[in-house]
Amino acid sequence: MLRSYVVSGLRLLANIECAKQKIRLIIAGSQVPEDQCHADNTLEWLLRLEPDASEALQLAALAHDIDRAIERIKVRRADFDNYDAFKAAHARNSAEILRPILTACGVERNIVEEACRLVEFHEVGGDPGSDLLKDADSISYFDVNLPLYFQREGWDETKRRSRWGYRRLTPRAQEIVKHIDHEDKELSRLLQEVIHESIS
Ligand SMILES: [Fe+2]
Repeated sequence: MLRSYVVSGLRLLANIECAKQKIRLIIAGSQVPEDQCHADNTLEWLLRLEPDASEALQLAALAHDIDRAIERIKVRRADFDNYDAFKAAHARNSAEILRPILTACGVERNIVEEACRLVEFHEVGGDPGSDLLKDADSISYFDVNLPLYFQREGWDETKRRSRWGYRRLTPRAQEIVKHIDHEDKELSRLLQEVIHESIS
């Protein structure tokens, strides 16, 4: 009895590890330079916000942007009239890409379903799990994506994106972002302006 319990526990861990490795491998191929760091950093923030986060949440944190890593099927901003519609399509597409990866690694069906559901709702939240993922994702944007995004997109677009990201944070996550420091003075000023304008 005990032996079969231990064996099935080990199998579960091996399947989850297989899935994490495959997700990381795919994201490593992304042409967006911040993607790889953002995936692991989102997982780190998730575990800081909720040290007991479920396996499904951890898989979703790693894979939530996986669609951006696959050029031939990724969703493109230019094909959408508004940013929210683009983000919703990106989340749906990422969930669809994730499902066969988890299944191929033998991840339990209920974990597969929950991880894909969380990825689908990571931009909007709406329940405790997807709210946590949305916060971890958004904090990570301010933590590790911002410098590269700013370099590539410039002041106006970075400010628009940051305003959008800051407003969707819960008050707890906004407090965390207020204390994120960037060495680049211009970037620090941009972030302070975004925070200040969101309060006023
Ligand atoms: Fe993200």
